[in-house]
Amino acid sequence: MNVTVRGRTRHFRTVSFDAAKNRVLLIEQRLLPHEFKVVGTRDFRATAVAIRDMVVRGAGAIGATAAYGLAQGARAFRGRDLGKFQAHVEAVFQTLAQARPTAVDPVNAMLDLRRAMSVGTTVAEQQTLALRAAERFADEDVAHCKAIGRHGAKLIRNGMRVLTHCNAGWLAFVDIGTATAPMYAAQATGRRFHVFCDETRPRSQGATLTAWELAQQGVPHQIIADNAAGFLMWRDEIDLVIVGSDRTLGRTGEVANKIGTYTKAVLAKRHGIPFYVAIPLSTIDWQMRSGRDIPIEERSESEVLGAWGIVQGPKSKVQSLKSGERAFVRVANPTSRARNPGFDVTPPELITGIITPEGIFKPGELWRHRAKLGGPA
Ligand code: MRU
Repeated sequence: MNVTVRGRTRHFRTVSFDAAKNRVLLIEQRLLPHEFKVVGTRDFRATAVAIRDMVVRGAGAIGATAAYGLAQGARAFRGRDLGKFQAHVEAVFQTLAQARPTAVDPVNAMLDLRRAMSVGTTVAEQQTLALRAAERFADEDVAHCKAIGRHGAKLIRNGMRVLTHCNAGWLAFVDIGTATAPMYAAQATGRRFHVFCDETRPRSQGATLTAWELAQQGVPHQIIADNAAGFLMWRDEIDLVIVGSDRTLGRTGEVANKIGTYTKAVLAKRHGIPFYVAIPLSTIDWQMRSGRDIPIEERSESEVLGAWGIVQGPKSKVQSLKSGERAFVRVANPTSRARNPGFDVTPPELITGIITPEGIFKPGELWRHRAKLGGPA
């Protein structure tokens, strides 16, 4: 999407690759919305750390990052021994796969890459095929998001108030986003609507990333506290909910997404508000049989006990920080501990539809349509 920084507008992808330097290029999302910066990872280990520490985050974006990371690791191998090369690629795969457990896109992307590489008969051929497949994954992610926009735009009518949770926007993918794709497509046809961004504690991806994206694209929006959605629904101030997903089970229609999604789905059902989930095909897990088996990432307690932000106002006497500097502040009682599951699972009966690049389906219909949706035979 286009980003305007200091009056200059340029198009950026969230994730890209510098083939000459063998580096994965990432928008440093931890600095947004206060600073816009692109960073490069020097090797596959650094790429895994960038995923783990959330320099890059969001299912599709970490999928593309893992794909490029695998190509980066493969291209760094020196030698012609195919057996040693394959053992090295397996180690790279495991390192990247373990960086974050809940989203299935990184594993799906890397399996894709390995299938594409297997056609090569030499190390050099497989290295070339790896990068080609990573580029293809990234391009496909963009194409999927565009198609989601085409299918989902009809859900947004003039004057609607749309709620979204966390960030399933272009920063969570290579470009465009999933939950935001219908919004951008509706905007392009001249429809007027308003978006409520759940703040999405503890890391506040809604308040920082989604709000920044929508501001960049000129979409009218307001940030609401996570606890405000129920009240706004009760007051008939929300007409539609669209969220993303980190893993959607093709067999059951269960949806893992950022913590708090389940609560919003229950509230939407209570108030008769349509609740949609927008996903590319790489987010579908065709193997898992129950949402209870989805590995839910438990994150650091510090995310709940405090918050990152930038200092505002005059120089603080206590921390000697200047206005505009980034800082972590402890909010919670100093002797208390916290629990921090990063994701939850929403059951299919609370979901009105899944917006995919192939159209909108009921969650229970995914398995029946698996041939069209890239599932097993
Ligand atoms: O922890 P994050 O920021 O990587 O979480 C991922 C998400 O942004 C959300 O769960 C999102 O709604 C779906 S991923 C496109």
